[in-house]
Amino acid sequence: MDFDLVVRNGTVVTASDIWESCDIGIKDGTIVAVGPHLPATAGAQEIDAEGAFITPGGVDSHVHLSQAGILIHNANIDGVDRSTFTNGVIPDRENYVADTYDTGTRSAVAGGTTTVVTFACQLKKDESIIPVIENYHKLAKDQSYCDYAFHVIITNPTPQIVEEEFPRMVDEYGITSVKLYMTYKPMRLHDYQVLDVMYSARKLGITTMVHAENADIIDWMTQHLEAKLMTQPYHHGTSRPPIVEAEATNRVICLAELMDTPILLVHISSANAAKHIRDAQTRLLPVYGETCPQYMFLLADSMRKGDFEGAKCVCSPPIREDKSDQDAIWAGIKNGTFNIVSSDHAPSKYDHPNGKKLGLQHGNLPHGKFRFIPNGLPGVETRVPLLFSGGVLSGRISPQKFVEVTSTNPAKLYGLKKKGCIGPGFDADLVIWYPQATFQPFNLTNEMLHHAIDYTPFEGIEFKNWPRYTIIRGKVVFSHGEVVGEMGYGQFIRREKSLLPGPRDVWLSEWRP
Ligand code: URP
Ligand code: ZN
Ligand code: ZN
Ligand code: ZN
Repeated sequence: MDFDLVVRNGTVVTASDIWESCDIGIKDGTIVAVGPHLPATAGAQEIDAEGAFITPGGVDSHVHLSQAGILIHNANIDGVDRSTFTNGVIPDRENYVADTYDTGTRSAVAGGTTTVVTFACQLKKDESIIPVIENYHKLAKDQSYCDYAFHVIITNPTPQIVEEEFPRMVDEYGITSVKLYMTYKPMRLHDYQVLDVMYSARKLGITTMVHAENADIIDWMTQHLEAKLMTQPYHHGTSRPPIVEAEATNRVICLAELMDTPILLVHISSANAAKHIRDAQTRLLPVYGETCPQYMFLLADSMRKGDFEGAKCVCSPPIREDKSDQDAIWAGIKNGTFNIVSSDHAPSKYDHPNGKKLGLQHGNLPHGKFRFIPNGLPGVETRVPLLFSGGVLSGRISPQKFVEVTSTNPAKLYGLKKKGCIGPGFDADLVIWYPQATFQPFNLTNEMLHHAIDYTPFEGIEFKNWPRYTIIRGKVVFSHGEVVGEMGYGQFIRREKSLLPGPRDVWLSEWRP
């Protein structure tokens, strides 16, 4: 057999199995052989894994890059001039306080992620999603270190969009999932609109991702907390107790059951929301769950420190205060409620007038006002190492479960057919870890990371391993702490339909779509 690259002597992990002393043969960017003692081929590059774990490259299916929507999540940020935003995009790159395709995907490969699925975000005034998709293509093309695909965020589902443009989105653009928001004034849909999206999604066989929080509770609580001057970053969480997520999760599961269409609840943070998802799955509804490392490794108590420092951990849903919620997230990963662990990488710089500090500038209070703090955290680089170190190496999840939730399931749910597994015919996207015996554990600092953000919420956490090599389609893109890949190597991936179960043809009334 003829190889371009042979990786030798690894402990190869898939979502179902582990093979020790195993080699991987790669030809033209594709895995062509997996097994012991593959033959040497003249001219082939060889990498000795020295017995270390080899896992499929991370697939991060929830990443926000170059997204105008990030700056306008908060309804009342008047420091940002939105009049120039159109077709999903901020024209003025100076305005970015987040990650673009170059910095975000550089960060991804340095943390073992080989594919990101990012968002092309419709703004409410965008009458068509086609130029939105085209614009995000321009932002990503020749800018990406890793492979990438798009979801479309729908904020205004007009009949033209759901009836005429959704089929084009699938057929012409290879985009087979949409995300919708039940909260954030500039983005939220009402239940009627959610049904409009689901109706079309069902016909086309695409998956609907839902950000489930009750918008009116959040608005009401925010108003009433401000009256009591309870506005410091920590109280972002006070305004959104777990019931806010649980109610919306249950509601949207009902809408999806009515429509008999698959949904994925994104970034779930709390026990009761997880229970609603679990119950739906027990009834065999095609309901999928996603959670993120921030809900597995952080608790809200740390946000009480400092007057405004807590803003670094402001995201929605919020990081929870009760350990019981965190425990429920870990249990949900083990029992299969959560099919996917993504990063929800949606960062803003902290020390920047258009970043997290908007909450100080517009607060007129020494500790600021949480309603003006842009929501979201950086995490595309830390997701895979956190789950490997704090999950696998800490004995909380098996190596196979790690592979399943960080790579295999996101690839299957989103129709990335050649991603997410180490086997013949799959893209040669690999993470080679350090041999455990030789690795010196370290405590993370932001300087070690490759994003364009001035902090990490995971500062100080101990890592018991880190990717030694990241390989994409047979090419080493990260090696011993250095990004060695090139911007522009990453390719756009047209997606197929989901490989996980979809509609069941079970109905709640005589109505049929
Ligand atoms: O706070 C968060 N998660 N912001 C990012 C956008 C989203 O809702 O996923
Ligand atoms: Zn051998
Ligand atoms: Zn969201
Ligand atoms: Zn998000």
